[in-house]
Amino acid sequence: KVVAVIMVGGPTKGTRFRPLSFNTPKPLFPLAGQPMVHHPISACKSIPNLAQIFLIGFHEEREFALYVSSISSELKIPVRYLKEDKPHGSAGGLYYFKDLIMEDNPSHIFLLNCDVCCSFPLPEMLDAHKRYGGMGTLLVIKVSAESASEFGELVADSVTKELLHYTEKPETFVSDLINCGVYVFTPEIFNVIQDIHTHHEDRANLHTLSSYDAIRFATKTPAKDFVRLDQDILSPLAGKKQLYTYETMDFWEQIKTPAMSLKCSALYLAQFRYKSPGLLASGDGIKNPMVVGDVYIHPSAKVHPTAKIGPNVSISANVRVAAGVRLMSCIILDDAEIQENAFVMNAIVGWKSLLGKWARVQGEGDYKTKLGITILGEAVTVEDEVVVVNSIVLPNKILNISVQEEIIL
Ligand code: GDD
Repeated sequence: KVVAVIMVGGPTKGTRFRPLSFNTPKPLFPLAGQPMVHHPISACKSIPNLAQIFLIGFHEEREFALYVSSISSELKIPVRYLKEDKPHGSAGGLYYFKDLIMEDNPSHIFLLNCDVCCSFPLPEMLDAHKRYGGMGTLLVIKVSAESASEFGELVADSVTKELLHYTEKPETFVSDLINCGVYVFTPEIFNVIQDIHTHHEDRANLHTLSSYDAIRFATKTPAKDFVRLDQDILSPLAGKKQLYTYETMDFWEQIKTPAMSLKCSALYLAQFRYKSPGLLASGDGIKNPMVVGDVYIHPSAKVHPTAKIGPNVSISANVRVAAGVRLMSCIILDDAEIQENAFVMNAIVGWKSLLGKWARVQGEGDYKTKLGITILGEAVTVEDEVVVVNSIVLPNKILNISVQEEIIL
């Protein structure tokens, strides 16, 4: 048997995702019309002999309750949310629920970060992992040398694929091969985390010998049950014939900011073309709105036939889109209303927001800069004919004059 664990973090982790994380925990923010965490979960379906999926985080349980029960019945695989009482780090969180994870006595454990967007080639990884015969296999990808320092950089043997060297977010360039945050392990991983615990405990005991060190420990050293997968485990185990790499040639992105969620929404919509074409909207502008490229429209949304939608648009539940509206490259969240002839491009429109007639909400579409897209928080009103460009608007604001490159607090 195999189990999968998805690390979903908690409210203190998603701060770069504001103002959208005020309303919804980041893992449940919709990409291509489905919660972010839904994409790795549905990829798990293709793992042979999958017994259970666990989401581990320190968000409130009730925030995940509805999603977890609906996805369990949809997939016919138990999906459970396990709440940590405090953050334990990416490996510490896994260890904290060891007994539950090992309940079915799995031979392999997948571990996935929830905030990555890729094709999750999980069965291929498992096959490669079995061939290599180590304790763990990491999904890796080549990125540009400039962006590599945002991730874990690593060196792998070109023939055996063994992980030879690993440095988390290094200051000086190591390699353009990086850690994708997707792993498969044997249960041996728990012994390794246990060893790190013991090591942290020894260090703590040592420090209590001198009061100076005791203060240092109390203020600087993390709790002994806090274990990071990257620094505490991958780095020391590199080059010991225990960890191997599997390189993906497909797409991969990390989702830390709202702008990246817009980019990843496009990647998942494009994937629907060949994985679940039934989820994509189609329309010719006669009975249904004119649809261009990859578009998701929730069945409860009402879109006027004279509106033109796409590419890369996802429209959530109960949204109303009036006549003559033009939407491209945007995410429109639940209960928003877009009135006649409004225009939205490179933007995220928050829950219950209202765009008046002839309003324009747009960004230039640079996903890497802070104001590259426009973001409206929950219940923002943009009055008729008002233009909002490259701006972030916090919840409950009413805009009656046009703004550009501004953060409206
Ligand atoms: N449950 C739980 N508890 N989850 C956590 C905790 C914790 O204490 N800390 C982090 N996570 C989750 C995050 O939500 C995320 O899904 C994942 O674990 C990794 O988060 P971080 O440890 O903050 O690392 P990162 O996202 O900056 O970088 C990691 O992922 C990159 C790929 O996206 C590193 O492993 C990099 O090397 C890697 O390139």
